Amino acid sequence: MKTFATLFFIIALAALFTSSAAADEALARKLLVSQGCKGCHVLEGEGGKLGPALDKIGARLNADQIRQKLLDPKADNPKSYMPGFAHLKENELQAMIDFLSNRK
Ligand code: HEC
Repeated sequence: MKTFATLFFIIALAALFTSSAAADEALARKLLVSQGCKGCHVLEGEGGKLGPALDKIGARLNADQIRQKLLDPKADNPKSYMPGFAHLKENELQAMIDFLSNRK
């Protein structure tokens, strides 16, 4: 009986974890469109060419660098005309950062 309970607990935890990861990815994908990122950046073959493609961004920048780029695009490039996204909620920023740092 105890084994069943433990097993059930593990399965429930795993289900919770995968569904929240999937929800975060869905949120990130939605924001990449609604925030206009894809107006300037190609991702998976679609998007504008004003900025660099984001398909392999996780191989070039780590999560902290991506966060800084989103909060203050001029920090690493004073001439950047990318807008800042400091108005986003923390969970929205984090979902995008996780998604982008996994593009390798
Ligand atoms: C008006 C166009 C524009 C929009 C909108 C825009 N970007 Fe950018 N982005 C750029 C340009 C241009 C660069 C390259 C120049 C620079 O360093 O800022 C850039 C650079 C970046 C970089 C660093 C790329 C690298 O290789 O160093 C990341 C990451 C990034 N953008 C993500 C995003 C995300 C995510 C969004 C939406 C939340 C977004 N951008 C919206 C124009 C834009």
